[in-house]
Amino acid sequence: MKTLERTLSIIKPDAMKKPGATGDIISMLEQKGFRIIGAKMLEINKAQAEGFYAVHAGKPFFDSLTNFMSSGPIMVLALEKENAIADLRELMGATNPANAKEGTIRKKWAANIEKNAIHGSDAEDTARFELSYFFAGYELAR
Ligand code: CMP
Repeated sequence: MKTLERTLSIIKPDAMKKPGATGDIISMLEQKGFRIIGAKMLEINKAQAEGFYAVHAGKPFFDSLTNFMSSGPIMVLALEKENAIADLRELMGATNPANAKEGTIRKKWAANIEKNAIHGSDAEDTARFELSYFFAGYELAR
């Protein structure tokens, strides 16, 4: 029996600013079989970005990353499909768009390693943490 998995994705401020990018990214997700079970557009402040990316605290890019993530609207998406965590990371492409394969979201929409258009949880435990960071259980579709 195959089991459904959930993951958290964020369309980042750089992509949210590009005409056509948000809709295209959502369409790419749906075409790959992801079911959107939660979605909201919001702006987070610096402290909220630091809380979300706490695992990266102390890294040289942490301050710049959290400034960027609190610089404008983002869209957070709760996604469901079989193998959702790994499949989303494959569809996103490499963190650095210079290394991203053709057909991936970052190849198409990302500018650089920081302004890289989209985030996706990297493992089951981080997916649980990240989903609960932005969504209460009652906000997710059945
Ligand atoms: P994301 O998948 O959201 O996870 C952490 C983010 O940190 C990553 O995407 C990039 O936006 C950013 N990041 C990772 N490595 C670097 C780096 N070397 N320089 C700048 N930003 C980075």
